[in-house]
Amino acid sequence: MDAMTLLHERSSMGKLMGPPPGTEQLEAMYRAALRAPDHKELRPWRFIEFSGEGLDRLGELFAEAEFREDPHAKDAVLEAARKKPKRAPMIIAVIAKVVPDEPKVPRVEQVISAGCAAHGLLLAAHAQGLGAMWRTGKYAFDPTVRKGLGLAEDDELVAFLYVGQLGGRHRPVPEHDIDDFVERWD
Ligand SMILES: Cc1cc2nc3c(=O)[nH]c(=O)nc-3n(C[C@H](O)[C@H](O)[C@H](O)COP(=O)(O)O)c2cc1C
Repeated sequence: MDAMTLLHERSSMGKLMGPPPGTEQLEAMYRAALRAPDHKELRPWRFIEFSGEGLDRLGELFAEAEFREDPHAKDAVLEAARKKPKRAPMIIAVIAKVVPDEPKVPRVEQVISAGCAAHGLLLAAHAQGLGAMWRTGKYAFDPTVRKGLGLAEDDELVAFLYVGQLGGRHRPVPEHDIDDFVERWD
């Protein structure tokens, strides 16, 4: 797939099946992520790869988060939280590992950089015929989940990227009128 086609046609896939991406596919994805624009080369990124029992451990954290939020939560609610990570054979958490008090690179720039790294992962997944979907949801901001994943106070969990083999068809790429978004100062 040529680069412009990839950039114009990448789309999300929520229906994912096993097996998880292979070692070489993952390496290609991380290499793309590590090409994210990065002010002062801080490399403000951390990735956690979940597969197999790792997905169960992540599900336990989600259930713990529900329980902390509501100790009377019904079993069905806890079970639903536990199952969430099982929607893919692999999840990659993308964390902005923010260097605090960096005078030239404010926090927002570092978080954007991590977002670009996440996009790099999505693009490289798509380019290799894999399916992927960026999710956050409340668990990305939950203190129990943050602690369980070892985030420092200044860090931000920018993405849970669900990755796997395509389990369905991509939706047609929506057409947008570029002029709705672009203003020109000629
Ligand atoms: C920061 C961020 C968080 C997102 N979180 C969710 C989410 O929790 N659940 C969801 O269904 N889509 C979420 N999305 C949107 C999807 O990843 C996807 O971009 C959207 O469904 C549009 O599909 P497309 O990527 O094929 O255009 C999120 C996107 C971003 C950038």
